[in-house]
Amino acid sequence: MPNNLLAGKVGIISGALDHKSIAWKVAQKAHAEGARFVLTNAPLAMRMGEIKQLAEECGALIVPADATSVEELENLFSQATEHLGGKLDFVLHSIGMSPNIRKKKHYGELDYKFFQQTLDVSALSFHKMLAVAERQDALNEWGSVVALSYIAAQRAFLDYTDMTQAKAMLESIARSYGQRLGKLKKVRVNTISQSPTRTTAGNGIGGFDAFFEFADKMSPLGNAPAEACADYCVSLFSDLTRYVTMQNLMHDGGFSTTGISAEVVEMITQASGSGE
Ligand SMILES: NC(=O)c1ccc[n+]([C@@H]2O[C@H](COP(=O)([O-])OP(=O)(O)OC[C@H]3O[C@@H](n4cnc5c(N)ncnc54)[C@H](O)[C@@H]3O)[C@@H](O)[C@H]2O)c1
Repeated sequence: MPNNLLAGKVGIISGALDHKSIAWKVAQKAHAEGARFVLTNAPLAMRMGEIKQLAEECGALIVPADATSVEELENLFSQATEHLGGKLDFVLHSIGMSPNIRKKKHYGELDYKFFQQTLDVSALSFHKMLAVAERQDALNEWGSVVALSYIAAQRAFLDYTDMTQAKAMLESIARSYGQRLGKLKKVRVNTISQSPTRTTAGNGIGGFDAFFEFADKMSPLGNAPAEACADYCVSLFSDLTRYVTMQNLMHDGGFSTTGISAEVVEMITQASGSGE
């Protein structure tokens, strides 16, 4: 039930590719909470995506931008502030892509050109966004910037290959830029570490279904759905979380602090045929 948590707030939401995207749900929730915003995605994704439907639903302008291009990000931020009539209160970075994962390369055979593209798209783009926002003085005091991460930043998940390093870098950028923008503008910067979620990016990872089921069985609350992640993003954009910054916030139903669960024990017992 909406509570007008974002009434009067304006921002940029990246990464809504289709109705399964986490950013899609964030846009719908932010709209319901009274926010106005610009939607953005890579020009290529825009052509095949359904983003126009979402823009109509939310009354949002779409500004295409490849998040690896500083020039295109400059255009995005200047068009957004002009269209929204002032500085921004929130920005969502919901961008990830690994050519190595797309080409199904395992960790021992990563292509280094692809690796650099993974880091550029999935992590450096966050620094580029923040640097453009800083240079254009595009963020309001007490503004909030959120990027989406995954627990592979802290733990080894081999099938996540080079995205593991990208997420570690993403979270590190959130801490460094959070320190910088906190001092300069009282702006907070955080990452949300989300449960496995059935989206285009998620489904591209090798063994995703097993991954998803395992996390679900390990987490006392079950995997956090995309809608709940969107609620968490809204709370971080709102004034209720003004002193939360430089954090990687687990949104995973308890997965990250669980050792083992009864469901996983049962699954293994049954599979090994040692159950009574
Ligand atoms: N799905 C999961 O299991 C999961 C779990 C934790 C974190 N995340 C993270 O959530 C974020 C959103 O992913 P999603 O699961 O909603 O999948 P998604 O595929 O719907 O979204 C990924 C988005 O990144 C965009 N993108 C790719 N390259 C780009 C570029 N060069 N410039 C601009 N945009 C570009 C895509 O067009 C797409 O909209 C990603 O950072 C992802 O790593 C996902």
